[in-house]
Amino acid sequence: AQDLRLAVVAGDGIGTEVVEQGLLVLESALHGTGTGFTTTDFDLGARRWHATGETLTDGDLDAIRAHDAILLGAIGDPSVPSGVLERGLLLKLRFALDHYVNLRPGRLYPGVTSPLANPGDVDFVVVREGTEGPYVGNGGAIRVGTPHEVANEVSVNTAFGVERVVRDAFARAAARPRKKLTLVHKHNVLVHAGHLWRRTVEAVNAEFPDVTVDYLHVDAATIFLVTNPSRFDVIVTDNLFGDILTDLAAAITGGIGLAASANINPDRTAPSMFEPVHGSAPDIAGQGKADPTATVLSVAMLLDHLGLADAARRVESAVAADLAERGAAERVRSTAEVGKDLAARVAG
Ligand code: IPM
Ligand code: MN
Repeated sequence: AQDLRLAVVAGDGIGTEVVEQGLLVLESALHGTGTGFTTTDFDLGARRWHATGETLTDGDLDAIRAHDAILLGAIGDPSVPSGVLERGLLLKLRFALDHYVNLRPGRLYPGVTSPLANPGDVDFVVVREGTEGPYVGNGGAIRVGTPHEVANEVSVNTAFGVERVVRDAFARAAARPRKKLTLVHKHNVLVHAGHLWRRTVEAVNAEFPDVTVDYLHVDAATIFLVTNPSRFDVIVTDNLFGDILTDLAAAITGGIGLAASANINPDRTAPSMFEPVHGSAPDIAGQGKADPTATVLSVAMLLDHLGLADAARRVESAVAADLAERGAAERVRSTAEVGKDLAARVAG
């Protein structure tokens, strides 16, 4: 028997509520498999920042590195200035642990209502670059607050960074039945970065000849995500485009209450991190109303990443069965009730 070492960053707002249910389902999924797990809770987020002024110290990072994976709830609180926790904690984790593949499935489960009238079969995955682009913090402002202010946020795209995420996206496309990869960028305007992405996709395609490639400008991609989402299989795109597209993807597949994500370090030089796409939702925090499903689906991605595919499939099947019955339910369940029901289904 082997024990997985899990770093838990429940974070802010509804983060603690959904993570509790995610862990309950994880326990159920691993029961009887011979694989157990231990958790280390990390006190990170708004509370810690108010108490100590710290977001994420080198000591925290070293301690987190000693784990097999990270489960994260949500980061962000209205009492903390915008950007402090986002940059100092969440993005710092993604960058420091080299999570260059930010994997975000867009899957419409049977029984889930989409705001689209005729969504069709929606089952794609966005491979969002996670360590470069406009997120790197390469910017600055001068003459701040004057009419002559100049504010720059420079998008950084390296051949190394683009190539490694593009190769990962090709490998994922090659392993899927449709074997289709769509590059989303804006190379008609962002000519330097856009052409680097385009050339890289073209070059790596030679290694994956059975993968079909197409290209969409990001504005056009938003149209097709609404008018014909079933045309997508794997999308590869930069950090900011991927951020925006995956909120849209969540919206058309039942909302952010269902949207899972994985911040993956494919080279396994540091633990990968699994988190729901939604944020801390301060408006409903503490009320037991949050849907833990996105966290539970993120737990399935965690299991997959750690080579526990059987357990991952059981978690996904439990979610699918639960979602299929929601329409007929006479009332909306609490966070804990959904978690308990999912854990019971996983147990069989
Ligand atoms: C997300 C979030 C983050 C991002 C924020 C909170 C920094 O929107 O995970 O999509 O932009 O990546
Ligand atoms: Mn986002």
